[in-house]
Amino acid sequence: MAYQNIEVRTEAGKVGVVTLNRPKQLNALSNDLMDELGVALKAFDADDAIGCIILTGSEKAFAAGADIGAMASYSFADVYKGDYITRNWETIRSIRKPVIAAVSGFALGGGCELAMTCDFIIAADNARFGQPEIKLGIIPGAGGTQRLPRAVGKSKAMDMTLTARMMDAAEAERAGLVSRVVALDKLMDEALGAALTICDYSRISVLAAKESINRSFETGLSDGVMFERRLFHATFATEDQKEGMDAFVNKRKPQFRHR
Ligand code: HXC
Repeated sequence: MAYQNIEVRTEAGKVGVVTLNRPKQLNALSNDLMDELGVALKAFDADDAIGCIILTGSEKAFAAGADIGAMASYSFADVYKGDYITRNWETIRSIRKPVIAAVSGFALGGGCELAMTCDFIIAADNARFGQPEIKLGIIPGAGGTQRLPRAVGKSKAMDMTLTARMMDAAEAERAGLVSRVVALDKLMDEALGAALTICDYSRISVLAAKESINRSFETGLSDGVMFERRLFHATFATEDQKEGMDAFVNKRKPQFRHR
């Protein structure tokens, strides 16, 4: 597929990289862009050579939100009947391989929500996060009121959502919104390093770990721990568990074959 709003490439034959590419609109997330992103993510997820995916933007903006120009004229009937957001923003939730958000510049509104929907966020030191929808007479609509408090707690989530103030990279790291902050010129190296590390582990363990952590957001502790326990038990049915433990015992590097 020829993409108009994103760029897609593969690094080292095993990391899929999707770059949001609407620079004049600071990567505002139009319907067309979100359609393309869904297609690209699904293609990488289905490609056996790919072990991890990176989603990134430009130095100035990961994404400055949903496309305000397009939204301005939407009516209730348009968004409700057209299933706005639900129709094409949820695809990323069905991706089973890890998706790392490499964020520089603005991650605002839907841009912040998109980053939070990824599995973890690595931020450049110029990153700025915010949910400024209140300034437009709306509220976050792609999970911001749900994922932000889970990431940073109620007080900061309320503060950011009700006042529309932005959080810089240092505060985002302190608050737990991002996993690491690096210099802007090191952002892609850092994200790629993390992705390649993940690619070298057993794909089965990687998928199971992601699935189990995501389950923690959907369930109570006892059920969540039991879900984890059953997946943990299941890993003992894999060749990769034998390989990983044999390699440790024999002081060699494991060669996981993802089975
Ligand atoms: C459409 C956008 C845009 C957006 C920026 N642009 N954000 N276009 N949708 N979300 C466009 C501007 O109109 C402008 O176009 C160009 O990008 C550059 O932006 P400037 O404002 O000139 O840049 P700057 O002064 O550096 O300010 C950067 C900024 C500001 C602080 C990020 O652009 C801004 O506040 N943007 C809106 C952020 C926002 O409110 N996001 C939430 C959207 S609502 P021209 O043609 O003038 O050069 C949302 C709802 C989510 O996301 C609901 C579920 C998805």
